[in-house]
Amino acid sequence: MSKRKAPQETLNEGITDFLIELANYEKNVNRAIHKYNAYRKAAAVIGKYPQKIKSGTEAKKLDGVGAKIAEKIDEFLTTGKLRKLEKIRNDDTSSSINFLTRVTGIGPAAARKFFEEGVKTLEGLHILTFVHPAGRRYFEEFEKRIPRTEMQQMETLILRELKELDPEYIGTICGSYRRGAESSGDIDILLTHPLFTSQSEKQPKLLHSVVECLESSGFVTDTLSKGDTKFMVRKCRGVVVKDEKEAHLHRRIDIRLIPKDQYYCGVLYFTGSDIFNKNMRTHALEKGFTLNEYTIRPIGVTGMPGEPLLVDSEKDIFEYIQWKYREPKDRSE
Ligand code: TTP
Ligand code: MG
Repeated sequence: MSKRKAPQETLNEGITDFLIELANYEKNVNRAIHKYNAYRKAAAVIGKYPQKIKSGTEAKKLDGVGAKIAEKIDEFLTTGKLRKLEKIRNDDTSSSINFLTRVTGIGPAAARKFFEEGVKTLEGLHILTFVHPAGRRYFEEFEKRIPRTEMQQMETLILRELKELDPEYIGTICGSYRRGAESSGDIDILLTHPLFTSQSEKQPKLLHSVVECLESSGFVTDTLSKGDTKFMVRKCRGVVVKDEKEAHLHRRIDIRLIPKDQYYCGVLYFTGSDIFNKNMRTHALEKGFTLNEYTIRPIGVTGMPGEPLLVDSEKDIFEYIQWKYREPKDRSE
């Protein structure tokens, strides 16, 4: 999963940018996840708003924009900036912690701990052993977003390798790419095979042989972490990119092997967006179901979740909770 969100390219870019910066500040520095969600939600509705917003009052009519955010919008529209953000950017603690959370392998809690121990820069991080070497080596490259054309080329290459290895594999590139984004922060691949279900034995080989295959073709260059979930980096060899300068860049690939019976809950979850997921889960609860990245289960009269329901497509999940099906491109919120 990438830590950089897609840049907002909308009429109200200035507003959505500052809302996302505030959201990240709340998540990384204050670890206030509710505030983070509130800012993200406001940024999402404003991002979709088809007109240029002229006042806080106008924005406040949108679902998810409250009085406080409206006030900030007014301040931004009149002065061109936001005092709160200026303060945050100038504050040593906030900017260091924000910076540290951009490094692969460091979450908000660890970032604060490092900061308190005096590690404030990437230089300082080099002495830390637990942050994976590949994460450090490619830190700057991982910050660059991947253009859609390159994502498409990688998708073709990966799916071709899968098919050659064993035509029974099913693979889906999820994340922002599946939602149609013009650029993505990373490559989120979900993989399954009929031999692997939640009732069967673990099948790590199914994952490892795919990884080995991608390694031997020179596509995957390093491994960030091993296990059922893998994080990998790749070199671009074999993939034609338009801009030659981009040809050497390493990208983050995140491959997950998922039991076949849980595959579509996984695909739904990892397609996102995170805000859409949250809204869908809320709706599911209202209809008496609990939904997560593995299963959908009915909630019984005792309030306990029952056995997982059979799922053979994303559409099945929408049907269970009586929600109109939404194509991935319509799942921004
Ligand atoms: P990401 O790769 O972090 O997000 P993304 O692919 O939408 O965006 P980017 O282009 O920056 O890579 O995570 C993939 C999906 O996983 C995301 O779209 C939804 C889901 N997810 C959540 O629902 N909650 C979370 O907290 C995270 C990190 C991801
Ligand atoms: Mg992604």
